[in-house]
Amino acid sequence: MRKTKKIAAALAVATLLGGAITSAAYAEDAPFPTDKQCGKVKPTDAVTKGWCAAVIRSKGNCLACHDIQTPRFPKDLVGPGNIAPPLVAMKSRFPDKAKLRAQIWDATVANPETSMIPFGRHKVLTEEEIDNIVEFLLTI
Ligand code: HEC
Repeated sequence: MRKTKKIAAALAVATLLGGAITSAAYAEDAPFPTDKQCGKVKPTDAVTKGWCAAVIRSKGNCLACHDIQTPRFPKDLVGPGNIAPPLVAMKSRFPDKAKLRAQIWDATVANPETSMIPFGRHKVLTEEEIDNIVEFLLTI
């Protein structure tokens, strides 16, 4: 009986440690997962979730058009596009978070001729994915 309890406790600690290690790996300045790794690592923090929603091709696929300039860019993720302005220094360029969110939700409001997909209006991304992308972009 006692032994079972000990094993259960050890497992709980291992799970906690495992969780801590996973989130620490993506918490500060470690490279973000590649688009392919994103599907496997299942990030829990909003910033990494946002990064993943931005780079996964079946989701935001922002890299098809934009370079995303962050020191955390994973080195084996190739092919940022350059048909749109690079996503760089977002925090200083978008002091108004709502404006940044609105650009992603429906870029055609600011520019009816834009090639950028209205991700929210066309429900390509969920509201939560857009919120997470905003959280991620405001770290760069
Ligand atoms: C099909 C190409 C395309 C895709 C995909 C795309 N964008 Fe854009 N984006 C553009 C273009 C072109 C502009 C330039 C402004 C315009 O057209 O109105 C732009 C502008 C922006 C801006 C304003 C940039 C600035 O410096 O003022 C932001 C922010 C932005 N995009 C974020 C995103 C995010 C986040 C994603 C992915 C969820 C994304 N874009 C996907 C084409 C794209």
